[in-house]
Amino acid sequence: MTSGQWSPATIVAVSLLCFSTLFTVYRTRSQRGNSSQRIPEVGEFLPLLTAWSFFAKRRDFLWENFKKTGAQIFRFRVLRHHVVAMKGLEARKMFFNEKALDLFEGVKIFSYTGPNMRDIDVAAAEQSNQFLMKQFANLVSKERLVDVLPAMLKDTDALMAQWGAEGTLDPFKELNDVVFQLIVRMGSCRELAEDRDVVSRMSVCLDNLEKNGTPIAHLLPWFPSPARRAIVRNNRALFELVKPFVEARRAATERTTDTIDLLLQAGFPLDNVVELVLGVINAGYVNTGMNVGWTAIFTGMHPEWKDKLAAEFQALLANHTENSSLPIHERLASIPLNVWEAELPVMDVVMRETLRMTMGILSLRRNLGADVSVGDKTIQTGEFLAYPMEDVHYDPEIYSDPHAFDPRRFDEGREEDKRAPLAFLAWGGGRHVCLGMRLAKLEVKLVLAMFFLTFEFQVVDAAGRVPKSLPRVDFNDLQRPRPQKGNPCYIKFKRLAKDN
Ligand code: HEM
Repeated sequence: MTSGQWSPATIVAVSLLCFSTLFTVYRTRSQRGNSSQRIPEVGEFLPLLTAWSFFAKRRDFLWENFKKTGAQIFRFRVLRHHVVAMKGLEARKMFFNEKALDLFEGVKIFSYTGPNMRDIDVAAAEQSNQFLMKQFANLVSKERLVDVLPAMLKDTDALMAQWGAEGTLDPFKELNDVVFQLIVRMGSCRELAEDRDVVSRMSVCLDNLEKNGTPIAHLLPWFPSPARRAIVRNNRALFELVKPFVEARRAATERTTDTIDLLLQAGFPLDNVVELVLGVINAGYVNTGMNVGWTAIFTGMHPEWKDKLAAEFQALLANHTENSSLPIHERLASIPLNVWEAELPVMDVVMRETLRMTMGILSLRRNLGADVSVGDKTIQTGEFLAYPMEDVHYDPEIYSDPHAFDPRRFDEGREEDKRAPLAFLAWGGGRHVCLGMRLAKLEVKLVLAMFFLTFEFQVVDAAGRVPKSLPRVDFNDLQRPRPQKGNPCYIKFKRLAKDN
């Protein structure tokens, strides 16, 4: 369309939009101090394009603009919201320690693609985030971990049995499915965890929510796009899948220590129990499933670590179990929690290094308090903040040769993660440390112990050959640290003989 074809109303509307954008820019600039204190602004006149780039290729957008501005901090707009992206030590300390910065508000708008009961008009839990987090901590207490440990191993065994004697699997699918089963076991109740059909339908719904978390669905949540409609449909389906199990537990005369019973006993109404169960399951599988997949890949590509880990699991079985005629999952189930937690040093450093390399995700906050400062720069009330963990996890001043998989970097005497404050953020840091860390670590150990003790394996590419280089993580992925596209890798496995 040429300008000659524009109607007077369109011309007026476009002029008003341009004027209001310019006015907002002028007003925000004039409010933001002198030029040295001013945070460089990016994409001021094209907020829609900026917002789109941020959602479509988040990691590239940030690093291109750090480079373009030559600054450690810059500001951009996502429609009506202001976001301040930052890197470096000073920014990191403020970002993770400042009380006014809220994690949930930050995540809600810019990266949450999990279940959301507000989309289907289910009244959300009214309690404060602090209260909910306290309840959450009870759900993953030591007693509960001890309780569910044998069932988690039995689940793992049952799912791995379906793989057959040999074959090729996608670690980010099949191993992820095992982790999903474990978190359903931990986060709901026995009846639901043992209903295979419901568990796999829940997994499909959660995948659909993630797939439909498109830029449009995020930026224009009121617009009835196909993605938005799919989000509503899948939220409804999730609610309907879990609700009957909560109703049944509520009607039951005996109480168990399952999550659903604990939440009912804490006095939550039925709808909120469904909401919280879905919240725990979603928080619980996203990173844990990826971590198991990446650990298999990284160790598979580094035979010396694969052998060390296999030897550690064999020693665990030999030193802590007696009856070798029992199936492996039953022998492992007899090992006390404290042994799993304290006596697997190889697994611990392998997991830590895998997390350093894969948790380069963007952390988000919103300033809900008064203005806060990073050096001489001011971040105003209501603004959003973004810090990419890749900044510290791949900093060559902290981690030598950061792209190399080297668990030895955490050894006593070397301890590269102690070279700077908040240098290891994969479990969070400062005011927000992962509440599911203990559970996640246990799940990773259980699944990998079963995997290493049951199968011999190697990493292969799509053509079935050993890949030439280590796959890299796609930090543009909004939700999970998956491998970059175009570089898929698989696990070729063969079941070990029984007497191994
Ligand atoms: C390998 C697995 C996991 C990793 C790497 C991981 C990592 C993290 C990180 C980095 C944060 C802080 C985010 C930030 O500062 O922006 C966090 C917070 C959190 N994680 Fe995890 N997580 C894992 C598994 C789990 C599991 C299994 C659960 C629960 C079942 C869970 C529940 C939470 C919760 C509730 C928070 C918020 C804590 C708060 O606000 O203070 N996570 N996690």
